[in-house]
Amino acid sequence: MFSWLEKNPFFFTVAFLCVFSIAGIVEVIPDFSKSARPISGLKPYSVLETAGRQVYIKEGCYNCHSQLIRPFQSEVDRYGAYSLSGEYAYDRPFLWGSKRTGPDLHRIGDSRSTDWHANHMWEPESVVPGSIMPAYKHLYKKNSDFETAYAEALTQKKVFNVPYDTQGGVKLGSLQEAKEAYMQEASVIVEDMKNKEISESFARGEVPEIVALIAYLNHLGQARIAK
Ligand code: HEC
Repeated sequence: MFSWLEKNPFFFTVAFLCVFSIAGIVEVIPDFSKSARPISGLKPYSVLETAGRQVYIKEGCYNCHSQLIRPFQSEVDRYGAYSLSGEYAYDRPFLWGSKRTGPDLHRIGDSRSTDWHANHMWEPESVVPGSIMPAYKHLYKKNSDFETAYAEALTQKKVFNVPYDTQGGVKLGSLQEAKEAYMQEASVIVEDMKNKEISESFARGEVPEIVALIAYLNHLGQARIAK
């Protein structure tokens, strides 16, 4: 029936574009709807959390962990409330992942504590017997990258209008102010980690990558839980 179309490159291209754009529109339109806006209570990532997110990306955690809980009973029972598109409003790039060698982490901020992560990331097997997750000991040594994280947060604010420095939101401020907030936030994590070496590095003015990573993990999924 459509063989004439296949033989005519011009009309075939036009027909192809029509069909293709319908698929595009179907995908794009929901993004303009209310559900894609930030859910209430969603906070932008602080600079420390942004640094932790960079560590998460750099280490490729998303290769084994998803951050997307589907609306199935089995998933909700296991991981908590299913994910909403408005929860990802400040995520660039998204870290949905496509493989679950380990569990989903979208609600990890509500299910695990700082000292649990501190032990688990050092040696997963010691906390979860039989765990096949690799240890991340190097993160306890390497200093986190404050400058890059600050630059990223500033870019999010300027280019994507992420609400930093707004009322009730996360304060970004100047480089100096952000550094102070970074150290302040890190001090809380360091204290909860109860790890001698980390406390020593922190006393020297360093914030090891693991501290930033835990700050990030603690942030995950919190806004939806609070609802
Ligand atoms: C090779 C695959 C793999 C990689 C890479 C990996 N993990 Fe895991 N992860 C697992 C597996 C398997 C488990 C389940 C066993 C366990 O809890 O140790 C797990 C468990 C976890 C848990 C506990 C989840 C829960 O609900 O109990 C956290 C948190 C976690 N991983 C964080 C990370 C972070 C952060 C990174 C990157 C620095 C990472 N993982 C990289 C495989 C991986």
